[in-house]
Amino acid sequence: MTGFDNSVAVVTGGVSGIGAAITRRLVAAGSKVFVADINEEAVAAAPDTFGPDVAGLRTDVTSEEGMEALFAAAVERFGTIDTVFNVAGGSKPGSVVDMDLATWDFNIRLNLYGAFLGTKLGAKQFLAEGKQGSIVNIASLNSQVPMHFGAGYASAKAAVVMLTKNAALELGGQGIRVNAVSPGLVATPLTGGLLSAPGVQEAYLERIPAGRAADPDEIASVALFLASREAGYVNGENIVVDGAWATTGYPDLRPFLG
Ligand SMILES: NC(=O)c1ccc[n+]([C@@H]2O[C@H](COP(=O)([O-])OP(=O)(O)OC[C@H]3O[C@@H](n4cnc5c(N)ncnc54)[C@H](O)[C@@H]3O)[C@@H](O)[C@H]2O)c1
Repeated sequence: MTGFDNSVAVVTGGVSGIGAAITRRLVAAGSKVFVADINEEAVAAAPDTFGPDVAGLRTDVTSEEGMEALFAAAVERFGTIDTVFNVAGGSKPGSVVDMDLATWDFNIRLNLYGAFLGTKLGAKQFLAEGKQGSIVNIASLNSQVPMHFGAGYASAKAAVVMLTKNAALELGGQGIRVNAVSPGLVATPLTGGLLSAPGVQEAYLERIPAGRAADPDEIASVALFLASREAGYVNGENIVVDGAWATTGYPDLRPFLG
């Protein structure tokens, strides 16, 4: 994939899981990377972890002032921004009936505000520079498939996909591309706790034809493709990367059909 040599990327959530895999791939492709994460220690360690082309700022993606400070710091450090990857996210569970507004709010703020602010400020920077930059938002298979106790998270991720399309509509004329990746199950610290509970991994894998969770790098590769020169005419798209999980909503009729 081309277009990253001597470029500059901002990666929110760039120090863990899928974000860290994106950071590694960007560095390998010749990009400088400015990471933004609420994990201050991991951000401070980023140059040691990922190499001298990586710097960062402790950032809360739900704060507009915080995100403005992030983009200003990235430009001050590296002079420009070419690509933005909005990866920071997470979920707090709650049933529709019992979820309090604070839990709902947590899911919407972290997943939707974060992607909105990163898209808005990234696009503003591209427009100010007259640059045809690219933005990639990490949504989720839950943007299309609901899960028990997931109304807050799934609703936020569905909105991230629509935000992506709306931004592509508004910015495509200026050559700015905004796309999304919707991962299925990925082996990261986010899912580690849940998957280590007895029976949970088996319950997931029963539904996933690939028979395994994705490696974070298998999501990063698609995110980089969308930001690359090779995807120059792809805009407003959402690529589901789920090992065919989304195909399994129908009963398995093989025992009945021979
Ligand atoms: N792991 C999966 O199975 C899976 C599936 C679908 C979608 N996703 C999405 O992929 C993205 C990355 O998830 P991951 O699995 O790599 O998780 P992760 O927990 O490894 O990484 C998420 C990062 O976001 C950071 N973060 C949390 N709150 C923040 C905030 N307010 N401001 C800034 N940073 C914050 C965390 O510190 C962490 O470094 C998320 O948007 C998640 O919803 C993950």
